[in-house]
Amino acid sequence: MDKTERDALQNANFVDTYIHTDGMAWTPFSEGIEIKVLRATQETGTWTALFRCAQGSAFARHEHLGAGEYLMLSGKMEVRGGVEKGGITAYPGDYGYEPNGMIHDSTCFPEQSVFYFTNFGPIRFMDDENKTVFVLDWQAIAKIGAESAKARAAE
Ligand SMILES: [Fe+2]
Repeated sequence: MDKTERDALQNANFVDTYIHTDGMAWTPFSEGIEIKVLRATQETGTWTALFRCAQGSAFARHEHLGAGEYLMLSGKMEVRGGVEKGGITAYPGDYGYEPNGMIHDSTCFPEQSVFYFTNFGPIRFMDDENKTVFVLDWQAIAKIGAESAKARAAE
């Protein structure tokens, strides 16, 4: 058996994922923020998405219940007030890692921005007293993705 046959035999056991994201519709996520769900996994609770954030939009106060990773694709993101207030200002091409347990009071977008994001678990949105408002876990993400796919199929 040559290498090509051997590889084909092994790879027949797996299903890989390929998504042409330009062909996907943006789905409303929160005020001024839209999402394209790329992946949500039951096994680990990890999920991956693209976010498009309108100029002036922001993610509400939240706590990461799993680490997150992002790559800015366009625009400008101010995490924890941005670099002028001791936080981070991310520009296109910038990568960031957000540790499990990190609290982000508000993540703002001074201009329209798109970024790739993976979170290794849920994100807990909360009020100023840290009371839970909404838990964004893999099931919530998968639901958004499924509804978006259904809406697209019905078009
Ligand atoms: Fe965050």
